[in-house]
Amino acid sequence: MIDAVLPTYNRAPIAFDRGEGAWAIAADGTRYLDLGAGIAVNALGHANPDLVAALTAQAGRIWHVSNLYQIPEQQRLAEMLVDKTFADTVFLTNSGTEAAELAIKMVRKYWHSKGQPERIEILTFEGAFHGRSTGAIAAAGSEKMTAGYGPLMPGFRVLPWGDMAALEAAISDSTAAVMLEPVQGEGGIRVLPDEGLRRIRELCDRAGALLVLDEVQSGMGRTGRLFAHEWAGIAPDIMMVAKGIGGGFPLGAVLATEAAAAGMVAGSHGSTYGGNPLACAVGARVMEIVADDAFLAEVARKSALLRQRLEGLVAAHPEVFDEVRGMGLLLGLHCKVAPSELVEAAYAEHLLTVPAADNVVRLLPPLNITDDEIAEAAARLDRAAARLE
Ligand SMILES: Cc1ncc(COP(=O)(O)O)c(C=O)c1O
Repeated sequence: MIDAVLPTYNRAPIAFDRGEGAWAIAADGTRYLDLGAGIAVNALGHANPDLVAALTAQAGRIWHVSNLYQIPEQQRLAEMLVDKTFADTVFLTNSGTEAAELAIKMVRKYWHSKGQPERIEILTFEGAFHGRSTGAIAAAGSEKMTAGYGPLMPGFRVLPWGDMAALEAAISDSTAAVMLEPVQGEGGIRVLPDEGLRRIRELCDRAGALLVLDEVQSGMGRTGRLFAHEWAGIAPDIMMVAKGIGGGFPLGAVLATEAAAAGMVAGSHGSTYGGNPLACAVGARVMEIVADDAFLAEVARKSALLRQRLEGLVAAHPEVFDEVRGMGLLLGLHCKVAPSELVEAAYAEHLLTVPAADNVVRLLPPLNITDDEIAEAAARLDRAAARLE
């Protein structure tokens, strides 16, 4: 008989009852050190007191009103994002997928508003993950995500990951946009080097195409800058954000320049819940904490510490690990064993990690993980690897 929960996930037989910072605690009291953070969502850890206070204060005032009215909490969060980024304007969503969907719509509307409605082709890259909507799976194009869901939405061409020659050959003055994650998350923590990102910006500028960055996983401080593209010194025209921005409360956003948002007029897009007061009150508190130079410098320092430990593990367990990948606290262990085996062995050591494609296990701790917890995580990973030898 089918489970009451639609069986689209292979779930581990673990349930959590509560959390404290980097720890997720099962009903029987077993404490798991959480290096998954809900897949890069719990940026400030579980039950963060600042976020609990922001949420409960808002919960006692008003939860939902509709975008038919002014929403001061939404306005405030949007202004904070505009203030700290390339963007002139922001649409708040409830998830990364909804952000991807709007980004795609915004590209189409842009060219429509320019009198070129036929200019629809968006160039994307293999290994991409932009969500599970019909648009997002068409953009990624992988057999795994699209099988059985055809016909797919037209207008995407998927290029080999990071292949600048392929991009140069494909891009033209009929390209609508190039869309990519600066660091592929689900695709296996694959970092596009800064020169690559700068080259893509140049090629977009030359062709007049929009650059759309998906920073759902790489954004909100995860790489040690507020957004990963800042390392390359470039800016996109449109950017998707989600995950960390809500610190665990469902929240996403599309950020855009005024020029890229040219087609988005009243009535062209909407959402019942997007930008609701509860989510935005939490998001604003996350922004206050994360969009701070001292906080981001700490992320970079902790990244170096964790990375050094991981390099040590690779050296100590050459039959299990191949290399460390990633930036900031968006790290991956490229494995010589199946990632699921390492994830299982880590469960046995009460450590949570997340598998990704390309034989990688992801380590995405809360950004405020402590130095002691990093040392503890490394010790547990060491024992997990020893189980596989
Ligand atoms: C880069 C990226 N884009 C989009 C998404 C989709 O976000 P959501 O699951 O919130 O819809 C994800 C989720 O993993 C992601 O990593």
